[in-house]
Amino acid sequence: MSFPKEFLWGGATAANQYEGGYLEGGKGINTSDTLTNGSHTVARRVTWRNPQTNETGSTPMMFTSATDRFIPEGAIPAVLEGEYYPSHTATDFYHHFKEDIALMGEMGFKTFRMSMNWARIFPNGDDEQPNEEGLKFYDEVFDECKKYGIEPLVTLSHYETPIGLTIKYGGWKDRRCIDFFEKYAKTVIERYVGKVKYYLTFNEINIMSMMPYMAGGLVDFSEQAKAQGAHNQFVASAKVVKFCHENYPDIKVGQMLAYGPVYTYTCDPADQILALERSQETIWYADVQTGGHYPEFKLKDYERKGIQLEDCPEDYELLEKYSADFLSFSCYGSSTVTTHDVGNDSGGNFVMGVTNPYVKTNAWGWATDPACLRLACNTLYYRYNKPIWIVENGIGWSDVLEEDKTVHDDYRIDYLRQNIQSMDDAINKDGVNLMGYTMWGCIDLVSAGTGEMRKRYGFVYVDRDDEGNGSLNRYKKDSFYWYKKVIETQGEDLD
Ligand code: BG6
Repeated sequence: MSFPKEFLWGGATAANQYEGGYLEGGKGINTSDTLTNGSHTVARRVTWRNPQTNETGSTPMMFTSATDRFIPEGAIPAVLEGEYYPSHTATDFYHHFKEDIALMGEMGFKTFRMSMNWARIFPNGDDEQPNEEGLKFYDEVFDECKKYGIEPLVTLSHYETPIGLTIKYGGWKDRRCIDFFEKYAKTVIERYVGKVKYYLTFNEINIMSMMPYMAGGLVDFSEQAKAQGAHNQFVASAKVVKFCHENYPDIKVGQMLAYGPVYTYTCDPADQILALERSQETIWYADVQTGGHYPEFKLKDYERKGIQLEDCPEDYELLEKYSADFLSFSCYGSSTVTTHDVGNDSGGNFVMGVTNPYVKTNAWGWATDPACLRLACNTLYYRYNKPIWIVENGIGWSDVLEEDKTVHDDYRIDYLRQNIQSMDDAINKDGVNLMGYTMWGCIDLVSAGTGEMRKRYGFVYVDRDDEGNGSLNRYKKDSFYWYKKVIETQGEDLD
């Protein structure tokens, strides 16, 4: 079977993991700029300084946390001398964008998902005027995309918030962030009319529950702060949809959700209930942003926890009237849960669970079963009946650059082949309206979960290691040629 002719094949990246250009061209500091590297077994750290006492230190970045504050009272996140921060250079799209977009053009990309660095446009987050040099940089990027007929898909905030907003306002738990984001979004949407047609507001908005510093610039990790942070992002997203509907109806604004099917380890009914509850923890974010209202089960959860949102009736009118135009999601594999003690907790980063004997995992413990895409597409499309878009999928692997500068990544080709087949089934057997597919980390970039370079996803190898050494030269992997052929044949030739 083949894919629809308008299907948007491409790749995805994020500024904090790919762009670099730290403080160049008037850029400010983002929350992601204070994250050190780590590994599969050692957590990345957030570095901080106490402006009163000048004490400095760092705190491990946690994926699930019940503590209310994760850096000491009085401290603010800060970039410290002598620490290594992978985002500062990342894989240097800032200086390589022409070469990289040419490589994407050579593969035949129809679309390129990238994120804009918010602090490159508003260095402190609450500035009166945008930074013209930052705006110009993205002008050049989009012009380059146009040369190759590549449609940009732009994420406005991918795991970064200008650090000024965290220090002054406590991040997204403060409603004033809605206005700062609205101003930022309007500035860029107007600037790039005719150049950018597709936007996503927040990357993986549901990661607010697990990683509120990354997702919302929060240092207050209380349930109340996370709930408020998510609510404020929902309202901000709806305002962006409203702005486009009223002014630029051809521009489409989507939601972006981290999604993976949840399997049960046993057929014990208690396991089914646990899987239902785990799924609810994710799906309510889409119920609000794409479906237009808070589901009852979430309101009951807030009631039980004593959470009270700072809101107003207009918020709910906005959410209902200006829900997302489409639902995009990341999906790498599944997670498996059980109420039984089976003694095999899987690694995963954002996805916790137990090891599933029926699915393969990579070296980082991520379950990589291809069935997840077909399942995800069906669940998400038929729940809202809005177009969906897979904007992240791929496999992290410690690729080897051979002496002759080739990379033989047949494991990646194998993973992608099966995942594309799964999408094909979703479209051609199940009738899902799938807009496109952007493979994650199409050109090697820094891992969000571990800060490593060795966890590579790309079709293109970038010479850079975990300590920041390397020429940053680009080399095509075997999968580069394979994906080019897949796009050329509209997904017919997957061999
Ligand atoms: C998604 C994020 O969760 O997964 C990306 O949107 C991230 O930013 C990707 O890079 C893969 O995760 P990791 O930890 O392997 O980089």
